[in-house]
Amino acid sequence: MKVLGISGSLRDASYNTKLLRAAAELLPHDVEFEQWDGLKAIPPYDEDDDVDPAPAPVAALRVAIAGADAVLFATPEYNASIPGVLKNALDWVSRPLRSNPLRNKPVAVIGASTGAFGAVWSQAELRKVLGTIGARVLEGDVAVGHVLTRFDEDGQLTDQQVIEQLEEVVLGLVEELSPVPAVLRATA
Ligand SMILES: Cc1cc2nc3c(=O)[nH]c(=O)nc-3n(C[C@H](O)[C@H](O)[C@H](O)COP(=O)(O)O)c2cc1C
Repeated sequence: MKVLGISGSLRDASYNTKLLRAAAELLPHDVEFEQWDGLKAIPPYDEDDDVDPAPAPVAALRVAIAGADAVLFATPEYNASIPGVLKNALDWVSRPLRSNPLRNKPVAVIGASTGAFGAVWSQAELRKVLGTIGARVLEGDVAVGHVLTRFDEDGQLTDQQVIEQLEEVVLGLVEELSPVPAVLRATA
């Protein structure tokens, strides 16, 4: 079983990327986690370029999603919405609509921001976009506000409440994929 992590931030020191790493550590040992890091290479969506073969970075993203059983997104909030680069990548993935690799794929959305609300608007928009594309968007909420205070100097997530919320979401994702209760898998 494999979960692909996609961060909507390009920053090296991104808190959303760190949040994904923290989520990966909470997955049961038999679940593989791959952090996708090709966002910056995705070209601007142009329907004229959306041909076969697709641009190589787009093809690689489609293959990465197709090869995962579930996708965990962590998104920042830019001006109350999804970062343009993430939306752009999803526009590429969404075509063709009927056979895109996100169709029926279980996905979960988490997010962090330096403001008080933890990217809630961006997460809501991302869920809407993913649902439109045809993904199976799971419920569950991790909205990490004031994110500067939640990690230590080594980039480790230290906020116990956030860790528990994160665990609930990742185990929910695993349970969606497996009949074995995630809590048993986590302790196996
Ligand atoms: C262009 C831009 C717009 C932003 N807009 C918002 C916003 O609407 N709400 C918010 O809470 N934070 C906003 N922020 C602050 C981000 O929450 C903060 O930069 C966060 O650390 C980005 O996530 P990252 O650490 O994963 O890169 C904005 C930041 C940038 C660069």
